[in-house]
Amino acid sequence: MTTTVPGGAIAGMAEAPPGPPAEIPFCRTEITPEAQQAVLQVLASGWVTLGAQSAAFEEEFAAWVGARHAVAVSSCTAAIQMALTALDLPPGSPVLTPTLTFCGAVQAIVHARLRPVLVDADERTLGVSPEAVAAAAARGGGAAMVVQHMAGHPLDCAELAEAAGIPPGRVVEDAAHGLGAALGGRAVGSDGRAACFSFYATKNLPIGEGGAITTVDSDLAERFRRMRLHGMSGDAWRRYHRSGTWRYTVADSGMKANFTDVQAAIGRAQLAHLTRWQRRRAELAARYDARLGEIPGLILPPRPEGGTHAWHLYVVRIGPEFGPDRDAVVDALAARGIGTSVHFIPVHHQPYFRDLLGADACANLPVADRVFPQLLSLPLHPGLPDADVDAVCGALAALAGSR
Ligand SMILES: Cc1ncc(COP(=O)(O)O)c(C=O)c1O
Repeated sequence: MTTTVPGGAIAGMAEAPPGPPAEIPFCRTEITPEAQQAVLQVLASGWVTLGAQSAAFEEEFAAWVGARHAVAVSSCTAAIQMALTALDLPPGSPVLTPTLTFCGAVQAIVHARLRPVLVDADERTLGVSPEAVAAAAARGGGAAMVVQHMAGHPLDCAELAEAAGIPPGRVVEDAAHGLGAALGGRAVGSDGRAACFSFYATKNLPIGEGGAITTVDSDLAERFRRMRLHGMSGDAWRRYHRSGTWRYTVADSGMKANFTDVQAAIGRAQLAHLTRWQRRRAELAARYDARLGEIPGLILPPRPEGGTHAWHLYVVRIGPEFGPDRDAVVDALAARGIGTSVHFIPVHHQPYFRDLLGADACANLPVADRVFPQLLSLPLHPGLPDADVDAVCGALAALAGSR
């Protein structure tokens, strides 16, 4: 499995072999010159961890998303854990989650001392459908639900909550792919109780590492601010400042999951490019659509009805009529210097989760089982030249029909 990023780094797949960078990498992390400058200023300022830069980033990020509050944290995984923990459910309560998702998002449920209940994939969107969440809730129960906007295709959280019989306030959005997506005129993360974003190196707003939770609830935002720093009172980071005090109160459980001002400096400068980057991602997706549409056996990603796709990923399916199977296509593209990835290995295929959840909970997920061997994520990042998209499409066209 090749998830090639420059320098031979591997995104999310530790087993991929080291090697020279692909000529057309799957992803390239662009840290703009302004962001690099801003980091130097923070490094020279005498304050590098959570502080005023982070607070400014939170305001600017919330404004970009259209959210009332944003709380910056160490990762999207930590954000999901905190959002679930703050539901105050009894330990072991069932939480619906797609099986076709990133393993970290399900580890977050486990770390919140809750029990993942796996939901089968929706064949069209690769997210989950109302029917699938209803079936999973009937089978395994559902006290809460993590909704993942797979690849950037927005899902209707209210509709899914209703289908699963879960109060809308118990939905945690995994918006790691959803930054910039919208449905029915509402931006993902603008109106819910908790939407969790990632600023990992490959994400639409790349910082390197980091995450944020957006919420409409001011009290909850304050609670997240405490939870990200050991449960200490909200402005604990100020205790070393002249205006601060050494006193703090621990009134809640907490983690070490704070943001830093170094990350914030990168994030603030990167945010100024985000709207342009989103436009470029959409252009690239349209270019793929136009050039791949005629290739038999290639199933292209659908457009959301009444919504905006965030185009975090461009995921195609290598259907049976294509000729070579997905794994052969990955190898053939790699041989031509084209990096690709697979999103995702279903959670129920992983030994840890099979042991944890048991065979029954990992059975009857037929759509994920069927589509997984067909999934292929093509190179997509705002710096990708048109000519590289054309080269990827040309390579796929040449492979189609071959054995
Ligand atoms: C769908 C999804 N959820 C959660 C995460 C975790 O994000 P982070 O690395 O910021 O913890 C990822 C990361 O790749 C992801 O793809």
